[in-house]
Amino acid sequence: MPGLRYNKEQKLNEGSIEMAKLEVRDLHVSVKDEESKSTKEILKGVNLTMQTGEIHAIMGPNGTGKSTLSETIMGKSGYHVTQGDILLDGQSILDMPVDERARRGLFLAMQYPAEVPGVTNAEFLRVAINARRDQDHQISVMDFLQKLDRNLSLLDMKESMTERYLNEGFSGGEKKRNEILQLLMIEPKIAILDEIDSGLDIDALKVVSKGVNSMRGKDFGALIITHYQRLLNYIVPDTVHVMMDGRIVKNGGPELAKKLEAEGYTGLRDELGLDIPLVDDDQ
Ligand SMILES: Nc1ncnc2c1ncn2[C@@H]1O[C@H](COP(=O)(O)OP(=O)(O)OP(=O)(O)O)[C@@H](O)[C@H]1O
Ligand SMILES: [Mg+2]
Repeated sequence: MPGLRYNKEQKLNEGSIEMAKLEVRDLHVSVKDEESKSTKEILKGVNLTMQTGEIHAIMGPNGTGKSTLSETIMGKSGYHVTQGDILLDGQSILDMPVDERARRGLFLAMQYPAEVPGVTNAEFLRVAINARRDQDHQISVMDFLQKLDRNLSLLDMKESMTERYLNEGFSGGEKKRNEILQLLMIEPKIAILDEIDSGLDIDALKVVSKGVNSMRGKDFGALIITHYQRLLNYIVPDTVHVMMDGRIVKNGGPELAKKLEAEGYTGLRDELGLDIPLVDDDQ
């Protein structure tokens, strides 16, 4: 696979990347409901540890808190941590703004990527890459364009996509593919991919998976949020976590995702003796 070779070369050229460990400890997160003005607890004690070299998947019913977890890890405003901690390499990141977390190697591919009119995709990528480098080691225009070219061809993307404003007018699938382009260009240590497969046709799903797999290695870890076991056939995770009602209720290997696909969440909930209402109950 050419992408794999390119990325390895890239990493060698850029020197060795350090290992990273992300720990979520007893995380409780509340949001303020703007309509009722009341506070609602979404995450109710999430525990999760992952490090570079590992691929983790999180599955769970709608509205369970998966995106809340990813946005909180990345530091989006509006999510209030009321208890617990998030550590990167042993250091709490709770007081760090989003850009500082990104500089330290965290990356989030959002479930609903935002449109940024006025900033081209290529400009955004260069700024994002350079934000992780010190002033003396900014990427040269030549290196940037070569890296962009390699990754565009790996992802079967047209060059014209990079001259368009970020995500503006991109189709659902194009946005998702573009998130993976960002991943390949920025080369974070730990990436959270929130429903990177939603809305993708089968060919795009394969391309996106190829992109993520090309990053696999000891310097990269990913937390993949998905509703569909099918994605995990292409990107085989080391660990699968099931989240329900703001907590991780079960951990397992890839076989856990297959079991969920076959039995749904109701089966697991009943097996665990949890008292959580699920949409399946109505069927
Ligand atoms: N800013 C907010 N104000 C009010 N409620 C919110 C806010 N953000 C999240 N929630 C609520 O928190 C719950 C969890 O949402 P979240 O987006 O984390 O779920 P999810 O597990 O990612 O679901 P899905 O699988 O549908 O993407 C939902 O009930 C949602 O409505
Ligand atoms: Mg979500």
